[in-house]
Amino acid sequence: MSVPSPETLLVTVREAAFAAGRVIQAQQNAPRERRLKLNREIVTRTDSEAQAAAIAVIRARYPAHAILAEEDGLNNGVDEEGRWQPPAGYSWMIDPVDGTTNYAHGLPMYCVSVAVALDGELIAGVVYDPNREEVFEASRDGGARLNGTRLPPMEAPGLRDAVMCTDWAHSPEGRRLLFETFPRLAPLGRTTRIFGSAALALCYVAAGRVHLYFNCGLKPWDAAAGVLIVREAGGEASALRDERWHPGEPTLLAAHRGLLDAALTSLR
Ligand code: IPD
Ligand code: CA
Ligand code: CA
Repeated sequence: MSVPSPETLLVTVREAAFAAGRVIQAQQNAPRERRLKLNREIVTRTDSEAQAAAIAVIRARYPAHAILAEEDGLNNGVDEEGRWQPPAGYSWMIDPVDGTTNYAHGLPMYCVSVAVALDGELIAGVVYDPNREEVFEASRDGGARLNGTRLPPMEAPGLRDAVMCTDWAHSPEGRRLLFETFPRLAPLGRTTRIFGSAALALCYVAAGRVHLYFNCGLKPWDAAAGVLIVREAGGEASALRDERWHPGEPTLLAAHRGLLDAALTSLR
């Protein structure tokens, strides 16, 4: 069996993200039919249909690969906090709408996030923002791009000048941890933003629009693509307890290496 290169896999990641994005765009002005799942999280018809469109693209190309998709109702071994053990071989992670609460309320901060990993190591990822027509993408060792143009190597200010970004968690444990982390980190920077889409926030770190992102309750599909994009732009992502981030780790700090180290030191 031939092994597809990261760039080859990226083609399918991109097509899957666009397929989901087309569903979102077609339904953007329709009423948001919604239901609630665990922890009162909103799910709309668009989440399910966008996910089906992305899965169809991946299945057609790579029928034997494992797919972890947010709305398939099975959770595929992801626990309530977001912990997960990636299976051996290829696994795809799909978040058809990252920022569903924003989407459901007409706030234009949401995106599609699709990534693929091999034995848990991220290989290719795309975050597609259908509102701004921004496509962030990366393949392992291939750099990160925004709309086809390579992102310049990340730079970062010192901690006290950093624009930070975080998000609220859904699970009680994620919220407890955020309550602990926020007062220790946020006052050290210049200011803090909350966008409601982890995938977009990570891309904004990669693009230098904000400098640091932290979250205490992520699922693998929220962060997989965004973390690879940060790393390929020259940044790094770790768990809050200073271990390299991997899909299945609920806590995350992502920034330029120097800023990340300063933030981790202040949390020790
Ligand atoms: C959510 C967003 C948010 C994060 C939540 C996620 P969803 O994703 O990424 O930024 O804080 O934990 O659940 O539910 O809109 O796909
Ligand atoms: Ca999400
Ligand atoms: Ca989602």
